[in-house]
Amino acid sequence: MSQIKLLNIVGARPQIIKASAISRAIRTSYPDGFTEIIVHTGQHYDKELSDVFFDELEIHKPHYNLSVGSAGHGRQTSMMIIGIEEVLLKEKPDCVILYGDTNSTLAGAVAAAKLHFPVIHIEAGLRSFNKTMPEELNRIMSDHASTLLFAPTNAAFKNLINEGFRPENSPPYTIDNPKIYLTGDIMLDNSLFFASLAEKKKAEFMGSLSLIRDKFILVTIHRDTNTDDIQRLLDILQTLKTLAAEKDIMMVMPFHPRTILSLKSKLEAFYDELFECNNIKIIPPVSYLEMILLEKNCRMIITDSGGVQKESHFFRKPCLVLRKETEWIELVSNGTAKLVDADPERIRDEFLDFLDSHPKLEYPGFYGNGKTAEFILNEILLMFEKE
Ligand code: UD1
Ligand code: UDP
Repeated sequence: MSQIKLLNIVGARPQIIKASAISRAIRTSYPDGFTEIIVHTGQHYDKELSDVFFDELEIHKPHYNLSVGSAGHGRQTSMMIIGIEEVLLKEKPDCVILYGDTNSTLAGAVAAAKLHFPVIHIEAGLRSFNKTMPEELNRIMSDHASTLLFAPTNAAFKNLINEGFRPENSPPYTIDNPKIYLTGDIMLDNSLFFASLAEKKKAEFMGSLSLIRDKFILVTIHRDTNTDDIQRLLDILQTLKTLAAEKDIMMVMPFHPRTILSLKSKLEAFYDELFECNNIKIIPPVSYLEMILLEKNCRMIITDSGGVQKESHFFRKPCLVLRKETEWIELVSNGTAKLVDADPERIRDEFLDFLDSHPKLEYPGFYGNGKTAEFILNEILLMFEKE
């Protein structure tokens, strides 16, 4: 068969990062196997949530940018579906690759499946079992519109089986006869690849923030449940502010614009107070290489992000998860991540436990061998060879 035409759909920050693993694996291992078209829905559009990753991670600039921007779920997703459908009809790819669980993922799944383009879902099978999360609905619907599903963990693979997917299906694979795989996580591919590059390319970064290895905590918050519920946001940040002062430890907070917007519009006085604190540094979102340096050098990570939870594991840091549940349950069973919700007491207790009692933590290889992108591409090639 001639080259396989892949249409990659990205939109939010972590999807651009994930797509870079596939792009890199095509360049290095399958340069003659695939042609890649990148469609950016425009869900994220600020330079530091989008362009910075294309520049830094050497991904081809989007062939199409739908410039959908921010809006309510219905409007945002429907505008994406309309735009993606037009691109699909023009490009007629062999298949469509979707990443994760955002509105861009769902829009891609709906548009592609209805036009009968095979959907390949990377990060399939993850479940929080909390359907009030927009991401949970996006995941379930995208998985059930897919032809090849790559589950990054045992738990995700089992979730797919529990929903009726059959590991024994044989080719030809279709939306009605999908194939599920247990792979690793392409985010590990990226962390391994970029970790030493980050040290070289961003040698000045830690110094520019006056940060010393092991002497600071990294905090990210962006989930709607935390940013839009002002009491939760206040509970989390009040608790962290108190702990930072009490333990005299720096907390670095590269915040998503959504979090800054809530702080500025609904907690203005408290936001000003945070800026007065010597132990709190609220900074704009950082680039991926900068983020890696923060993760590698910090003492502990506190986050509600899916990607950052896993990166805490890749860089062997204890992690407090500011959620009631997580899709990455192996981290919690392993004891290196603790679910603390937005509960001041739990945040405090688990923070002090990790900081003061130096528990012995192990970081087993839950997420593959760093070659997951190659595995995925190879399976895509096989699918088309068998046709
Ligand atoms: C989205 C995903 C979430 C993912 C996150 C990664 C959905 C439903 N949510 O959440 O799963 O974890 O991306 O970061 O798809 N905004 C800006 N500049 C931008 C983009 C957004 O200021 O470039 C602000 C706007 O006020 C916007 C808000 O952030 O309304 C939320 O953006 P949106 O893309 O809807 O969701 P995220 O919270 O980014
Ligand atoms: N990230 C980044 N800069 C930041 C915050 C996060 O590069 O300021 C990276 C992070 O290292 C991870 C990904 O973005 O690879 C996670 O994205 P996010 O937290 O926005 O979303 P989620 O993973 O929860 O969907």
